Amino acid sequence: MKFDLQRIQQLESLEDEILVERIQKIRESQGKNLCILAHLYQRKKITELADFVGDSFGLSQSAARSSGKYIVFAGVRFMAESAAILCRSSQEVLHPDPEAGCPMADMASYSEVRRAWEYLKGAHPPVPVTYMNSTADIKAFCGEFGGTICTSSNALKTFEWAFEKSSRVFFLPDEHLGRNTALKYGVDPEDIAVWDPEKADGGEPENYESAKVILWRGYCPVHQKFTVRDIEQVRKFYPGAIVIVHPECPTEVVQAADEVGSTDFIRKFVAQKTKPGDKIFIGTEINLVQNLATEYPDRMITKLHRSLCLTMYQITLGRLLYTLENLETFERVQVSTDVQRYAKVALDRMLSLVI
Ligand code: 13P
Ligand code: SF4
Repeated sequence: MKFDLQRIQQLESLEDEILVERIQKIRESQGKNLCILAHLYQRKKITELADFVGDSFGLSQSAARSSGKYIVFAGVRFMAESAAILCRSSQEVLHPDPEAGCPMADMASYSEVRRAWEYLKGAHPPVPVTYMNSTADIKAFCGEFGGTICTSSNALKTFEWAFEKSSRVFFLPDEHLGRNTALKYGVDPEDIAVWDPEKADGGEPENYESAKVILWRGYCPVHQKFTVRDIEQVRKFYPGAIVIVHPECPTEVVQAADEVGSTDFIRKFVAQKTKPGDKIFIGTEINLVQNLATEYPDRMITKLHRSLCLTMYQITLGRLLYTLENLETFERVQVSTDVQRYAKVALDRMLSLVI
């Protein structure tokens, strides 16, 4: 089905209340046939309409367990693709804006990764581990070559698993999550090398053979914005405040913060470990920060720095309604059979690691 952009624009110009009411009506009429999954970076109006809201790990578990015929995914493309790989063949995954990708996932293309692999594998190949925020063919590459996938909530567990299989790990595409996890696991900073896809020899040819962890040079533009100076300002003007950041932030920021964890960790930390009156500064995407601030008005919950994920923001109530109005004909998220096969091997390996 072709997108009727005029119709989408028309819907997007309606009041939120009208859109919410129409979406609710369709949800009621579809009943168990329909399952809406939403990432924690979605706006509150969207998370309120979802059957499950969570981090990347929780969302993939929900996709694997859901029984609805239609899974509508309010998140970015790699999440919808993962749901399409994990769900049953009788289910269909719909992504309200197929253009909403993740810039970090796009920093590692299949051909670049294969080129790096040929260079790096040597006589004792490392275990390839990709962050969930990667394209389906990179996930398949990891499945095919004995590796796995991790999210920000199970990255440490994945490193433990990988180091049982080999003395070297090749981690992509997020350099920061990779370094933060390697250091937490106890890898010496000297034993970490970086592969820069823009350089023919990766940039550190002298280090790859001895390195325990080789990191792909990729980053999340949303989390790259947080700095140690942001945290120093908080310490100066709000002594006693708690600083929580996501592990996609640069290492020096993670080390300066009080707490570090996935979006779901952040949500649970605020819910269970903070109390009325606390001052909490959060270094992650702004919508999660704002949603938490609304949910806990008795605490001062605010951003470490304003940082919006533009592609997450592309999922609007209007697009969600348009998807639901066209469930029968809306373009399905599809992954080719070859890619699906090995990407599922890697995703299943991830889901079998208890965190
Ligand atoms: P988690 O939900 O896994 O914490 O990570 C989020 C993310 O960056 C999504 O883009
Ligand atoms: Fe990608 Fe960063 Fe946006 Fe997550 S927050 S979808 S990693 S750009």
